[in-house]
Amino acid sequence: MCGIVGYIGQKEAQPILLSGLKRLEYRGYDSAGIVTIDEKSKATLLRAKGKVAELEGKALTHTTKDSVGIGHTRWATHGEPSKRNAHPHHVGDIYLVHNGIIENYQDLKHMLTKHDYIFKSDTDSEVLTALIDFLYKDADSLLEAVSGALKMVVGAYGIALFSVQNPDEIIIARKGSPLIVGVAEGEVFIASDASALVGHTDQVIYLHDGEIGVCTREGIQLYDIETQAVEAEVEKLELDLQAIQKEGFDHFLLKEIYEQPKSLRSTLSGRINLKTNSVKLGGLNMTDDELREVRNIMVIGCGTAFYAGMMAGYFIEQFTDDVAVRSEIASELRYRSFHVPDNTVALIVSQSGETADTLACLQELKRRGVKCLGVVNAVGSTIAREVDGGVYVHVGAEISVASTKAFTSQVAAITMFGLMVAQAKGASSKELNTYIKELDLLPGEIESVLENSTGEIKKLAKKYAKYEHALYVGRDTQYPIALEGALKLKEVSYIQAEGYAAGELKHGPIALIDDRFFEVCYLQDNWLYEKSQSNLIEMNARGAHAIVITDTDKRVAAEAVVRVKTKLELLTPLVFNVASQLLAYYIAIARGNDVDQPRNLAKSVTVE
Ligand code: M6R
Repeated sequence: MCGIVGYIGQKEAQPILLSGLKRLEYRGYDSAGIVTIDEKSKATLLRAKGKVAELEGKALTHTTKDSVGIGHTRWATHGEPSKRNAHPHHVGDIYLVHNGIIENYQDLKHMLTKHDYIFKSDTDSEVLTALIDFLYKDADSLLEAVSGALKMVVGAYGIALFSVQNPDEIIIARKGSPLIVGVAEGEVFIASDASALVGHTDQVIYLHDGEIGVCTREGIQLYDIETQAVEAEVEKLELDLQAIQKEGFDHFLLKEIYEQPKSLRSTLSGRINLKTNSVKLGGLNMTDDELREVRNIMVIGCGTAFYAGMMAGYFIEQFTDDVAVRSEIASELRYRSFHVPDNTVALIVSQSGETADTLACLQELKRRGVKCLGVVNAVGSTIAREVDGGVYVHVGAEISVASTKAFTSQVAAITMFGLMVAQAKGASSKELNTYIKELDLLPGEIESVLENSTGEIKKLAKKYAKYEHALYVGRDTQYPIALEGALKLKEVSYIQAEGYAAGELKHGPIALIDDRFFEVCYLQDNWLYEKSQSNLIEMNARGAHAIVITDTDKRVAAEAVVRVKTKLELLTPLVFNVASQLLAYYIAIARGNDVDQPRNLAKSVTVE
């Protein structure tokens, strides 16, 4: 949720920290701060409410040449977004940045207050800073104090800190919150997300839970929580600068919507074979016999990842005879009683691979002995590391908080998994072959919507941006798209938007229709066309302001119609979804919103 950066080396730390924070800003953007320290232990702490640009403004008048520092961009959990609550926190000798939540911070605060500590912020992170400072007074080393403190805290953390007593060392640690270290000659870079390291080094070390790192100009030494030395594994970072730049687009969101043909091609590349009508996913770590045994697929995720699972579930149950797919919201599943039938495979879906609720479900399912596969984008992320196998979706960095290209590829990847299961069972139905053909056609079909429909959608967006409420409705495979379409609109435009199964309208939501609402209806020219049309007629009869997204040539009675020409039949919802992504984007632009970093949100929810 928050972003952490750190640097120790020969160069000036401030510009490195600020540019790193800029790249991590999508992880949290309600306040930001940096602290650097010189060789005489003089620290320069800068903090600002708001975006990193505010902090950059401050840095212009407080330039330092220090070559050691840490920084943070925050998404508030404990305490309002303000300068006072911004990181780095400073208590005694210690400066610290923290990502995560210290659950027992109240108890610790109480104890520290008795030792005369006074707290200036409302945060749990300041309590952790004070705790380390407190233990440091009697410890032989900062490492020992950090280890002692981390043994006392309950919760999740990614931290970076230093002490004014030793300006040549930064200590980092993680539990449940990612941290990556980039190593180069004479310098070490620290970040909570690989994008901050790009351009500095491609040699990286992913910290594991429970590890503490001592960073100096000579490199990093890892320790376990008992301060026993641990071997670090250096890996090559596969992320280039282009992937994290806007490349001529006004916003990452638009860039990522437009990237879908390309990103989807890389999801499918080498995995579907039209000649043999087959699918091959390399990293599942499952034999054909194991795939044949699968009777139940649980797909688990949050937000868009959850809808991707739901969407793919609808597809998979079309081309399998004996496989039941259930999609689960991770934040619900993790705390409720649930049963896992025999022959279940769990698919853990997450773009970032760091979502706390999704990770908790993975851990619980593994504890129960369920086979867990990841459908993850971020290579080397926690979920990717903890699953038994899986599929990387390979969409490249997704920077916009609203997820778009990841959704399309998650659906494709989960569907391919279903196809692998069906193949192993010996199925060779017409649907199965059609799915493989349509997956192959899908990138081109998305390209064509982007080419042919954008202008029209942009115009519509101007007209509908004035509404404060919206209903998105669809049937069958268009239902998950209605949910995803509504989520996209609400998060970037702040219009209250709800997705419904079109058949549910009469059971309540139709009461909402009035001039404050517009409706988005997904009308696919398939066996449910007449049924969906009836729903549209019902809405029109109540004065709806309906925008219909359809692939039909037939006459459609609606206030606005977006006609999407497509050769597809089964995967049409994914093409319609691109039209609703564009609608959400252009409505948000028309309302003057920050589409890449919508209010109150952050990319990658690593706390509950
Ligand atoms: O990184 P994840 O895929 O696990 O993230 C899950 C959700 O937080 C994410 O999809 C969220 O709903 C997006 N903001 C939706 O656009």
